[in-house]
Amino acid sequence: MKRVVFNQKGGVGKSSITCNLAAISAARGAKTLVVDLDVQGNSSHYLGYEPDQPGNGSVADFLDQRSGFFSVEKAPAEFVHATPFENLYLLPASPKLAHIEKDLESRYKIYKLRDALVELAKDYEEIYIDTPPNLNFYSKSALIAAEELLIPFDCDSFSLQALHLLLENVFELKSDHNQALEVGGIVVNQYQGQARLPRQLIEAMQGEQLPIYNTFLPASVKMKESHSLRKPLPHMAARHKLTLQFELLHDDVMEGRHLRVEDEPVEQEPAEQSA
Ligand SMILES: Nc1ncnc2c1ncn2[C@@H]1O[C@H](COP(=O)(O)OP(=O)(O)OP(=O)(O)O)[C@@H](O)[C@H]1O
Ligand SMILES: [Mg+2]
Repeated sequence: MKRVVFNQKGGVGKSSITCNLAAISAARGAKTLVVDLDVQGNSSHYLGYEPDQPGNGSVADFLDQRSGFFSVEKAPAEFVHATPFENLYLLPASPKLAHIEKDLESRYKIYKLRDALVELAKDYEEIYIDTPPNLNFYSKSALIAAEELLIPFDCDSFSLQALHLLLENVFELKSDHNQALEVGGIVVNQYQGQARLPRQLIEAMQGEQLPIYNTFLPASVKMKESHSLRKPLPHMAARHKLTLQFELLHDDVMEGRHLRVEDEPVEQEPAEQSA
């Protein structure tokens, strides 16, 4: 399955959610690929990639290839790197993504990632795509290439507005370019069950019948620690509350389990109590 994690709002947890869901898929035995389309390269860094690592190149090198009279393009698999984690592979980002974006756009390369992922899906059971925090050439390429969209949501008052705009853009893109794209669900991140605003926002989304995954992710300092140690949560804190919630979220994503309109958002203890 090809899943894209996207929200044009910055800092909502796209990279954290991409890498941890991918790490869980991989730990459960599925050969898994993370594609990092964000020039910031946070997912690549998190999964242990060093930009000056010899060989292979990045997703930018793949997209930027030109086939000439005497040369053929290299297959996308040649740009994939192993990570330190079993079954988990990476098609890394690079600062070069910023420099080649306009050129790729003018050369109509918006479908190149889709075609590459059709090839790679023959070898990788689960593919997760991390995207930049704006609707640019790369996030559009990802939405065209994917079958399912996961939308991280951070329960902030601007988020609901951003979500409506996002859904409008996604439905337009779906009808013009990728009929196969489905909204898998909204991932509620950094949820504070005791505060009023997050509960009101969730109720508003339930009222609009938006598909919200059952399991909410609490805020925890373990997330930042996990980033700085460059180890996804299942490899760093296997029994921590946040990791366990990620495992449940992974099941929701695999099985398409959503909150029902009448469900109360689950009351959550702060994650640190079980650290
Ligand atoms: N559940 C969480 N608990 C605590 N901190 C979190 C949680 N989720 C994300 N964060 C922190 O919030 C910050 C933003 O997360 P992340 O980089 O995953 O978001 P993003 O949407 O990918 O950001 P960008 O839009 O810049 O790509 C990071 O510092 C991360 O450690
Ligand atoms: Mg990110």
